[in-house]
Amino acid sequence: MQSGRSCLAILLAAGEGTRMKSGQPKVLHEVGGRSLLAHALAALAEAGADTVVVVVGPDRPEVAREAQALLPSVQIAVQTERRGTAHAALAARAALAAGYDDVIVAFADTPLLRPETFGALRVALAEGAAVVALGFEARDPTGYGRLVIRDGALEAIVEHKDATLAQRAIRLCNAGMMALDGRQALPVLEAIGNANAQSEFYLTDAVAVARALGLATGALEAPESEVQGINDRIQLAAAEAEFQRRKRLAVMAEGATLTAPETVFFSHDTRIGRDVLIEPHVVFGPGVTVADGAVIHAFSHLEGAEVGPGATVGPYGRLRPGARLAARAKVGNFVEIKAADIGAGAKVSHLTYIGDATVGADANIGAGTITCNYDGFFKYRTNIGAGAFVGSNSSLVAPLTIGAGAFIGSGSVVTEDVAPDSLAVGRGRQIAKEGWAKGFRETSLARKAAARKP
Ligand code: UD1
Ligand code: MG
Repeated sequence: MQSGRSCLAILLAAGEGTRMKSGQPKVLHEVGGRSLLAHALAALAEAGADTVVVVVGPDRPEVAREAQALLPSVQIAVQTERRGTAHAALAARAALAAGYDDVIVAFADTPLLRPETFGALRVALAEGAAVVALGFEARDPTGYGRLVIRDGALEAIVEHKDATLAQRAIRLCNAGMMALDGRQALPVLEAIGNANAQSEFYLTDAVAVARALGLATGALEAPESEVQGINDRIQLAAAEAEFQRRKRLAVMAEGATLTAPETVFFSHDTRIGRDVLIEPHVVFGPGVTVADGAVIHAFSHLEGAEVGPGATVGPYGRLRPGARLAARAKVGNFVEIKAADIGAGAKVSHLTYIGDATVGADANIGAGTITCNYDGFFKYRTNIGAGAFVGSNSSLVAPLTIGAGAFIGSGSVVTEDVAPDSLAVGRGRQIAKEGWAKGFRETSLARKAAARKP
């Protein structure tokens, strides 16, 4: 984003997260189907960070593992004791000493920050500020640090616990993250003391320290919805709601119609094409792509799936990982597709399970068809050729190949391959007994009448 200027990002993730009441570290909880940590890392990468150092606590190896999995080049620094946000940032001392133009310090529990905002902080550095803070107008400022602005310049940030009554009346609060000029960052952070209400080394004191050194400071403002941090499950749900609101707007802005947007739930990586119609109550798990002109009917659930151009799903469709629908394919109500390719124009319209399979173009799969893909130990594939017709209520016992244009009689249990263009019927032959029903009725009525007599 800021071409020509190198950037170090320090992401503080040594949080306790006790209010989550969870066996899992706070920053590994998810919004939009990916961890809070992943959201923060993605925003920093997009803002042009050349190096990212994640500061973790000594007791949570999962956080470092997840960071490395998400960003192989990440550096991990351990803050052995929790002594404040400036102390945490200094855990990245080696990287700070390496000399970057821009330094961003961010919190890993703030998943909604947009890369553009980091970019704006970097612009302020390029324009000459040594320390730039991010502020927001808090609905309820209690607990937040306050931005003390005099004559248009940021003079200090005062933590709530240390603030005077007059300072507590300030509504402009500190979002937390901060940008520092790379040449000043190390001396400024090292000059921060801990003479305050919590005996902590506050990152926020970078402002007053910089001012004392005669350096320029500045503040930018962001909407509260963007800087909301997560400390408990209620705030996690609030962040999810904001994430979904943004994603719905983005999907509609790209040309999809959402009949009832507030009932549709996306993942961070959901890709929706133009002229797609998404009816109410649809859930997209991670890894879904929907091509132009497709229709997702109400109450469908999709994850790890590709929906081709003009294809339709649902109502009550379920696409599991590896489901791939080619152009104009139809997956109807109460149909589950897993690890299967459904060919162009093929129809799987009702009450069916297709798993570990290939369905050729224009094939028709009747209601109640099941691919029996699992014997309790191994999975097997079913291949159905182009234009084949599978009659309703058939069990296709894999491994199995049904040739192109073949026809399967309804209610068949198919255990052997079927040649192209042939008919396979695998069920008991129908027998007919003329007059049987009439005779049955007569004898039954006579028996009943006899039983009623005393
Ligand atoms: C911080 C800010 C406050 C701001 C608020 C916004 C400081 C001193 N205060 O306060 O001005 O309004 O965020 O939410 O920065 N952390 C560590 N190691 C530590 C301490 C904290 O890694 O020793 C990490 C935490 O995991 C968290 C972040 O730093 O991700 C912020 O720490 P927290 O204790 O939540 O700071 P606040 O009191 O909320
Ligand atoms: Mg906090």
